Amino acid sequence: MNSNWYLDEEFWRTFGPLMFNSDTFARGEEEIGQLLALLGTSAGHVLDLGAGPGRHSLPLARSGYTVTALDTSAHLLDQLRESAGELPIEIVQADMREFVREQAYDLALVMWTSFGYFEEEDDHARVLDNIRASLKPGGRLVLDLVGLETLCRTMEPVHLTEYDNGRMLVERPTLVDDMTRLDNEWLLIDDDTVHRTAFSHRVWSAGEIRSLLTRHGYEITAIHGDYEGADYDLEAERMIVITAIG
Ligand SMILES: C[S@@+](CC[C@H](N)C(=O)[O-])C[C@H]1O[C@@H](n2cnc3c(N)ncnc32)[C@H](O)[C@@H]1O
Repeated sequence: MNSNWYLDEEFWRTFGPLMFNSDTFARGEEEIGQLLALLGTSAGHVLDLGAGPGRHSLPLARSGYTVTALDTSAHLLDQLRESAGELPIEIVQADMREFVREQAYDLALVMWTSFGYFEEEDDHARVLDNIRASLKPGGRLVLDLVGLETLCRTMEPVHLTEYDNGRMLVERPTLVDDMTRLDNEWLLIDDDTVHRTAFSHRVWSAGEIRSLLTRHGYEITAIHGDYEGADYDLEAERMIVITAIG
């Protein structure tokens, strides 16, 4: 398995069209509406880390926020640039392990499980320290993850998704390393061609992510099971962690 799979442009070129389509863009817009209602904010500077083609940056900018959309993938950022037009979105190609802009943001977002990709625990810690330094006093960080509890409830050894255009995605996930990481194998079947990839990312339980964030200077405001603000419990679909810094 390529441990730097998340920096591989070929991965995003091949699987990006499955992830970023009209349905998931509509979902991103809905998530932003719900998240802003949960947060109760109305304006400010937002840092969208791992922004991809802008499922969240675009609706945020349309709602009046000034957005920095940061990503390592030139391919996905090109798509965002094309959609952004005159919207107030600064597009930055950079690694979240390196990017710091002292006390510049009211809100930082890491959406759709884009936090947790690194093999080294220190890299996750570095990202949290960078974000903390980039937030204004009183600023907030939202992490949108899938918690270990949800994975234990929902994970199937093999999962098949069929798309309208006839393509099929076969997912083969496994929890490894004392259930702290999810190893995944994806097979995309497109006519006679099979694209195969393997990737791995960190998985946290709610208790673990709470401790990690607290150690790095964040106060946990809430952990929700969805964007409507449900409790994080046995029904949870996501693990939406809302934090603030002093
Ligand atoms: C699953 S996609 C999510 C994109 C977007 N947040 C969304 O919800 O649609 C993960 C994104 O993280 C980006 N990414 C991966 N590693 C990164 C890193 N080290 N620094 C910044 N972005 C990264 C990828 O290029 C990709 O756009």
